[in-house]
Amino acid sequence: MEDHKLTGILSALEVESNIILDEMSDCEQNTIAGMTFTKGRIYEKDIVLATCGVSKVNAALFTQIMIDHYGPERIIFTGVAGGMDDSIKQMDLIIADELTFYDVSPKQLELCFPYKVRFEADPKLIELISSKDPDIRKGLIITGDQFITKGELKNDLKNRFPDALAVEMEGCSVAQACFVNGVPFAVLRGISDLADDGATDSYQEFEKLAAEKSAGIILETLKR
Ligand code: ADE
Repeated sequence: MEDHKLTGILSALEVESNIILDEMSDCEQNTIAGMTFTKGRIYEKDIVLATCGVSKVNAALFTQIMIDHYGPERIIFTGVAGGMDDSIKQMDLIIADELTFYDVSPKQLELCFPYKVRFEADPKLIELISSKDPDIRKGLIITGDQFITKGELKNDLKNRFPDALAVEMEGCSVAQACFVNGVPFAVLRGISDLADDGATDSYQEFEKLAAEKSAGIILETLKR
């Protein structure tokens, strides 16, 4: 990554963002509308980091405020997700090439501002991040305001989105906010669970490990 550009990094939870925060120096905090942003440096790169909390609204608010106040050249989201495709297992890494909301009908997404059903992540960022680990899977991530812990619900989502690799609660909101502002973005997720009846136990076991794996790749990306 080029040195002079500010990179925005977002995560939902501190367990996901602290790994990045631990590496930051020259930190300055700023709280806007109750939302805290930390500006600092990692490997000589300027970073603004925030922990946005779970849900679509939080993710959209933090992304817009980050863009308005810091003007990042790019935004990267790092965190955990539930696996959707049968080939996905815990600790896999998924990078979104596209994101959509599973809890808004595609027709409404098409007919209402910003008139987009799927939001595309930045190909250059995808390539850069993916180059850090050949096993990172690239594909559709679906977002909605629910933590999926029922096999029945997962199957319904799989029927509606057969190409989805992962499900989470923030990525497409970051994508939409970045899209309307013209900011390139990427979403990287470590798989903590399989969004099924075993999700709660699996999440407890793998949340930290999967979060560390995803954030570790972002740190590697910043080193370049
Ligand atoms: N993030 C991690 N696991 C998830 C799940 N099962 N559903 C939604 N978001 C998640």
